[in-house]
Amino acid sequence: MVIGYLQNSPHFGQKIENFAQIQLLAKGINANLLVLPELFATGYAFTSREEAADLAEISGGETTAFLSKLSAETGAVIVAGFAEKDGNQVFNSSIMIYGDSVIGIYRKIHLFNKEKIWFDPGNKPLEVHQINGMKIGMMICFDWLFPEVMRTLTLKGAQIIAHPANLVMPYCQSAMITRCLENRVFAVTANRIGRDIRGEDDFTFTGQSQITAFNGNILSSGHASKADSSTTDIDVHQADNKMINPFNDLINDRRENFYF
Ligand code: ACM
Repeated sequence: MVIGYLQNSPHFGQKIENFAQIQLLAKGINANLLVLPELFATGYAFTSREEAADLAEISGGETTAFLSKLSAETGAVIVAGFAEKDGNQVFNSSIMIYGDSVIGIYRKIHLFNKEKIWFDPGNKPLEVHQINGMKIGMMICFDWLFPEVMRTLTLKGAQIIAHPANLVMPYCQSAMITRCLENRVFAVTANRIGRDIRGEDDFTFTGQSQITAFNGNILSSGHASKADSSTTDIDVHQADNKMINPFNDLINDRRENFYF
């Protein structure tokens, strides 16, 4: 299976320009799974909940249409972050798309910083989607700091974690080594680059998108400050074997009666 990321530099509110950036990065790529950053089309630093709501879309909106086209052109299942509107609610979501089909939507459950002003917290269970020979779970950015998320997706059968991100702290890329190692799953962290200076906020995003293997090996590491893309070929079934030696199975060895 060929899995990868597209790392762009969204300009706030400029969806058409941001689609064009992604289109350019995807040129010539054929893959089974491609992951795009969190909020790749809108940018990150909203100044109010109203502004987030104005840029948010329902599933089936123009961002969904763009991603369907991207899926058709690359042959890939696409996972990408978007601002999702559902009635009066606004979520920081990721969508999984294959061709014209929406395979699933995940609504970020651990909101970071002022996201608590801009968005509603996710209200749907963590899910794993089986598609084209892969079992894929989604999480978004700050979810990395809550090990329960990847553990839950692993217990639900995920082989690959698709992880759109807008990282501003320097720790996630290293932490993903442990997250993947402790769950024996693959992960694709698709981070953005660039800077959002809006209202009182000034965020610089750290790039270095990363494909991490089930054994903690880093299979690909993106540029820290330039747009980038990368794919790598993996044997997804390596994530099905949780044995690290003849005696230790990382899932079956858990001692649940000792944990909260
Ligand atoms: C983040 O969750 N976007 C830091």
